[in-house]
Amino acid sequence: MRIAIGADHNGFELKNIICEFLKDKKVEYKDFGTYSREPVDYPDIAKIVAEAVARGEFDRGILICGTGLGMAIAANKVRGIRAATCHDVYSAERSRKSNNCQIMTMGAQIIGSELAKMLVDAWLKSEFQNGRSTPKVRKIMEIEKENFIK
Ligand code: RB5
Repeated sequence: MRIAIGADHNGFELKNIICEFLKDKKVEYKDFGTYSREPVDYPDIAKIVAEAVARGEFDRGILICGTGLGMAIAANKVRGIRAATCHDVYSAERSRKSNNCQIMTMGAQIIGSELAKMLVDAWLKSEFQNGRSTPKVRKIMEIEKENFIK
């Protein structure tokens, strides 16, 4: 599995911790920044990571900002992307199993690094359960198609 990971300045330290965690778990990843506490705009990072996932260059993405919310909102604007903010293990699992989210976002100002690692671990182990959820996810994709304005 190939993971694209990114963060804004508020998520910078947690991103580095998660990168180390992925390395320990031998999960392939690419770090799209940011690389310091210098302020950056979270939509810029969300766009780069979400587009790379949407193009199929990565299987999944992890985005971290202060709350996880801005990253999720921005990533969800990229066609084909389903991103969810996960701050508990059940949501991390369900975002994969029920919603087939390719991107998980977290808020570094909300959760600690040990919980973040647990969430990533649960999320990595969870796959979409094709079945009752499939038509619902398809309907999400239809909303996106119907509302596409260029
Ligand atoms: C800072 O831009 C802050 O808004 C960001 O880290 C995040 O919390 C956005 O949702």
